[in-house]
Amino acid sequence: MAIFNKIRWIYSTYDTTTIMRTSKLLGVVALLATHANACQRERHFHHSNVKHQGVSPTPLTPHESTLVEAISNRTLSDWSYYYTHGAHLAGKNFSMAQWTADRWAENGIDSSVVTYNVYIDYPISKSLSLTYANGSVFHPSLEEAVLNEDSTSSYPDRIPTFHGYSANGNASAEYVYVGRGQQVDFRRLIELGVPLEGKIAISRYGGPFRGLKVKNAQEYGMVGAVLFTDPDDDGNMTEANGYAAYPDGPARNPTSVQRGSVQNLAIYPGDPTTPGYPSKNDPLRADPSRVLVKIPSIPISYVDAIPILEALDGHGISGREVNRTRWVGALNVSYSTGPAPGAVLGLSNLMKNTYAPIWNAIGVINGTNADETIVIGNHRDAWVVGGAADPNSGTAIIVELSKAFGALLAQGWKPKRNIVLCSWDGEEYGLVGSTEWVEEYIPWLTETAVSYLNIDVGVSGPHPGIAATPELHEVATETMKKILWMDSGRTMYDVWYEDNEGEIGVLGSGSDYTAFLDHAGIGAIDMGSNPSDIDPVYHYHSNYDSYHWMSKFGDPEFLTHQSMAQYLALLAYKLADDDLIPFNLSNYAVQMSLYYKDLISAINSTSETLDTSALEEAIGYFARCATELKQLEHQAVKGADNELLAAVNHKHRDFQRGFVSQGGIPQREFYRHVIFAPGSDTGYAAQTFPGISEALTAGYTSLAAEWVQKTANGIIVAADIIKP
Ligand SMILES: *[C@@H]1O[C@H](CO)[C@@H](O)[C@H](O)[C@H]1NC(C)=O
Ligand SMILES: *[C@@H]1O[C@H](CO)[C@@H](O)[C@H](O)[C@H]1NC(C)=O
Ligand SMILES: *[C@@H]1O[C@H](CO)[C@@H](O)[C@H](O)[C@H]1NC(C)=O
Ligand SMILES: *[C@@H]1O[C@H](CO)[C@@H](O)[C@H](O)[C@H]1NC(C)=O
Ligand SMILES: *[C@@H]1O[C@H](CO)[C@@H](O)[C@H](O)[C@H]1NC(C)=O
Ligand SMILES: *[C@@H]1O[C@H](CO)[C@@H](O)[C@H](O)[C@H]1NC(C)=O
Ligand SMILES: *[C@@H]1O[C@H](CO)[C@@H](O)[C@H](O)[C@H]1NC(C)=O
Ligand SMILES: *[C@@H]1O[C@H](CO)[C@@H](O)[C@H](O)[C@H]1NC(C)=O
Ligand SMILES: *[C@@H]1O[C@H](CO)[C@@H](O)[C@H](O)[C@H]1NC(C)=O
Ligand SMILES: *[C@@H]1O[C@H](CO)[C@@H](O)[C@H](O)[C@H]1NC(C)=O
Repeated sequence: MAIFNKIRWIYSTYDTTTIMRTSKLLGVVALLATHANACQRERHFHHSNVKHQGVSPTPLTPHESTLVEAISNRTLSDWSYYYTHGAHLAGKNFSMAQWTADRWAENGIDSSVVTYNVYIDYPISKSLSLTYANGSVFHPSLEEAVLNEDSTSSYPDRIPTFHGYSANGNASAEYVYVGRGQQVDFRRLIELGVPLEGKIAISRYGGPFRGLKVKNAQEYGMVGAVLFTDPDDDGNMTEANGYAAYPDGPARNPTSVQRGSVQNLAIYPGDPTTPGYPSKNDPLRADPSRVLVKIPSIPISYVDAIPILEALDGHGISGREVNRTRWVGALNVSYSTGPAPGAVLGLSNLMKNTYAPIWNAIGVINGTNADETIVIGNHRDAWVVGGAADPNSGTAIIVELSKAFGALLAQGWKPKRNIVLCSWDGEEYGLVGSTEWVEEYIPWLTETAVSYLNIDVGVSGPHPGIAATPELHEVATETMKKILWMDSGRTMYDVWYEDNEGEIGVLGSGSDYTAFLDHAGIGAIDMGSNPSDIDPVYHYHSNYDSYHWMSKFGDPEFLTHQSMAQYLALLAYKLADDDLIPFNLSNYAVQMSLYYKDLISAINSTSETLDTSALEEAIGYFARCATELKQLEHQAVKGADNELLAAVNHKHRDFQRGFVSQGGIPQREFYRHVIFAPGSDTGYAAQTFPGISEALTAGYTSLAAEWVQKTANGIIVAADIIKP
């Protein structure tokens, strides 16, 4: 999941499809125009309050120097090698969980493995065939090529291409190309009179979360779905532009396939059979059908897609006439809708549905303030034997982080706040390990959690990006000024600023911060470093997201890993050890005002009228309380007044719980944050003021009015917590 800035909208893991890449030469704005999907309103990027200065590195304290110096690209490369040479699909590799806990323990951190028993599925077999009208048959290979250079692409236990939580079933039917499979694409097909009922959908990846493509196809009466990767999403790094394909060069290997989950996490993440409660021991199992699709689906490569699309050429409406955003891709076909009379796809998907244990590794450093906790997490499970970027760049970084904290612990250091390290399992299927853990520990987290720091795809290219809740913007960007970025001689801040124009993403979903933020009301940051349009193509959820790719193309000297590890270490250290928790609460008010403006223009663009004054007043009240608290903060720090510091810190720790105090959003009660939720029809891009926006979009004006009040109430509860 994860993703970040407007430039590279690479969702880590769980989802993303959309690999929004950028060319520095094209400029950020032009890129947004080319790449943004129709739901642009839901993508929020607001300027942080930082100004670009071309900064020299902020000097480090002795503790900070110890942390930075303990981090080495050599050991990062070793950890990466370990994690990327054994299959570690969710629930399939206990020894890797134990190994992770053991490494942390060696560094002085109390660590153990915790188990949840979850509903999951594993691939048994699948098939796809194209029968032409003349009776001849084409069989796509459905396999990624074995490459001599890349050892893990040939492992006998390599993981087949498949969709997690996909439906069992067979389908045999004519088929229709549906573009990126968004609701608007389907509406356009209906408008053009293209028959959908009873057909199979072929869709390109990109845009909305893949599970929604399948769900949309199902809703339009289609009987199966085939999803392919189009090289159109690869920026300039294409064979058509003269770049050799991996392993010979930086372009996409034509046989690469994007695996991934098709669970509908916009309803709720985690174990589909235990919504809102942990899958411990033998839990009561609920009906999972709200979040699972019913029609079979499989992912394929673009070489396998070409003949299938070619057979539609000249049938139905051509891609040019369809005239939809990113309908026409980069393959030499007309992207016609079809169906082609008599051209039939035969699709079968057989999965084993089961309950299986998954394993989180959890490590704890107790702080002197037992009632304040910083949680740091990364998932460990991968769709492939490798997973060098997703997620094990982050996993390697967390092991290195434990080493850095170990160096401080060896000096007798004890942090002010508890630090909890988490290595999640089952993230790829639907944020399962982290969601179950939050559901189990929610009483303790509600009482003590200060922030959740997430690193999923820590490194897939050289451009750093962050997305965070507003109270963290300032500390997140200030910390970048302490980090030298790779061997560039520049600070991470300068590199980040130039890449992102100083903009910080808004957290939607797609990685493990989701249950923390949207369910439990714990502020969060997600971080990573990603490719632009002119960097080597990162083979998302493919066998070629391997150690070989990483060490040859992605991060050859592991210096991006090193810089990211140093960044995470200093950020975590500051949050865990500063006398005053370094939050900027005024910025929460400022960002809410920006989201409010977006809401007003969204309301303006409908024919509805909605009185939002209660919301505006609540934001104003929050802003005043934050300003008043600032004086108390100064007083506490200046006077080194421990009692006052504790009181202020508890306000910082607790305020965000106010935002989850109003009950869940209609139809998806798991999501309780009145300011942020994953978009219900994008699956991961953020929706701000979700209760109001969604009711409005659905045309339920009185429900929207009710949510104006609830949202205002949530903000007032938060403001009352920070009020001195
Ligand atoms: C688990 O991962 C480790 C490290 O990559 C590997 O050596 C081991 O074979 C894997 N175990 C299984 C059961 O695949
Ligand atoms: C059947 O049609 C396909 C697609 O046009 C073509 O490639 C193939 O050669 C044809 N086979 C026969 C036996 O004519
Ligand atoms: C990337 O591709 C665009 C459009 O094809 C081209 O204008 C631009 O010069 C290319 N950039 C680089 C660095 O090759
Ligand atoms: C394509 O759609 C856009 C608006 O969405 C419109 O301005 C343009 O004229 C259309 N082009 C064609 C060829 O229909
Ligand atoms: C694209 O396809 C057409 C028709 O099949 C063919 O004539 C042309 O040579 C192809 N172009 C490229 C660049 O492969
Ligand atoms: C589904 O398709 C597979 C592969 O073609 C076949 O083995 C199986 O018998 C089919 N199942 C049903 C219920 O038709
Ligand atoms: C940390 O604190 C908890 C709760 O007070 C306690 O149960 C645990 O034993 C402590 N762990 C260590 C390593 O001191
Ligand atoms: C670590 O970085 C140095 C350059 O700073 C480089 O010479 C070395 O090869 C790198 N080590 C690894 C394992 O990539
Ligand atoms: C906090 O955020 C506000 C609003 O974004 C900004 O004006 C201010 O400079 C930031 N820093 C401090 C220390 O208040
Ligand atoms: C919304 O509409 C009102 C009245 O037409 C106008 O004054 C205001 O500027 C608009 N606001 C936005 C953000 O579009």
